[in-house]
Amino acid sequence: PNKIILDCDPGHDDAIALLLAWGSPEIDLVGVTTVMGNQTIEKVTRNALSVARVAGITGVPFARGAHRPLVRQIEVAESIHGKSGLDGPRLPEPTLELDPRHAVDFIIDTIMAADVGDITLVPTGALTNIAMAVRKEPRIVERVKQVVLMGGGVNVGNWSATSEFNIVIDPEAAHIVFNEPWPLTMVGLDLTHEALATPTVVEAIAAIDTAPSRFVGELLEFFGETYREQQGFEHPPVHDPCAVAFVIDPTVMQVTRVPLDVELTGTLTLGMTVADFRAPAPASCTTQVAGKLDHAKFWSLVVDALERIGDP
Ligand code: BDR
Ligand code: CA
Repeated sequence: PNKIILDCDPGHDDAIALLLAWGSPEIDLVGVTTVMGNQTIEKVTRNALSVARVAGITGVPFARGAHRPLVRQIEVAESIHGKSGLDGPRLPEPTLELDPRHAVDFIIDTIMAADVGDITLVPTGALTNIAMAVRKEPRIVERVKQVVLMGGGVNVGNWSATSEFNIVIDPEAAHIVFNEPWPLTMVGLDLTHEALATPTVVEAIAAIDTAPSRFVGELLEFFGETYREQQGFEHPPVHDPCAVAFVIDPTVMQVTRVPLDVELTGTLTLGMTVADFRAPAPASCTTQVAGKLDHAKFWSLVVDALERIGDP
């Protein structure tokens, strides 16, 4: 199985990403780290631990990370994820204890202790923790297998005309992460806007009829409503599990190797992820961007994971 660290800000879709990782035999979840974003670090960390309780996750360290972006002021997504960051279902009192380390140290320790090429980083929030880790211990770059992140978009934004939330709330961090020479796959809005939770998907999840599947149903109900009202979507795009799905089965989406960078100085385009599609991509290019999702395959991964999790 692929050893991953999920660096997340739960968050409705982050919660589903966590369930997908936990319920998939292709994934060995070696740690979960949190970063502010959808809500404050206190809230998203508590949410992560609540989700762990819902899914019966044990034996996985959870570590709390950055409480604000590197340079900018914190900006949360309450309009999408609500006051708690995970509004909708009842959130059970956490039972897991947090790892005493800061997420940045947890990430560094885990990568340095593992074999070269062993650990995949899966960030589904702002890239603050990953940027800090790479600055504190640059040797992690040649040791990780790959970075598969949810963020950005080539022709589409959601927090500004050009920019996606995870990137634009901490663009300096994203710039650091995108410019290190590790294999990096950007699972951005071009792809995740295809990961729609259609009525068929919602029914398939409801049919599992377990506490975790009902929890996901309630998440999707709230998320669907805010996405309808705030972003004009008929059905909500469930972004974050797409990055986990790529690690489980890369054939679930198409990818194109292309140089990627993050805009830091544009007055209209701050946080835009810029892809240089002029052919051919230079030999030094280690980045790729996802497009075109196999919708049925993706959702069957999520359904299968929930079935495996069962009623813990
Ligand atoms: C991203 O922003 C967050 O609100 C979601 O959890 C997802 O990671 C989508 O732009
Ligand atoms: Ca997220």
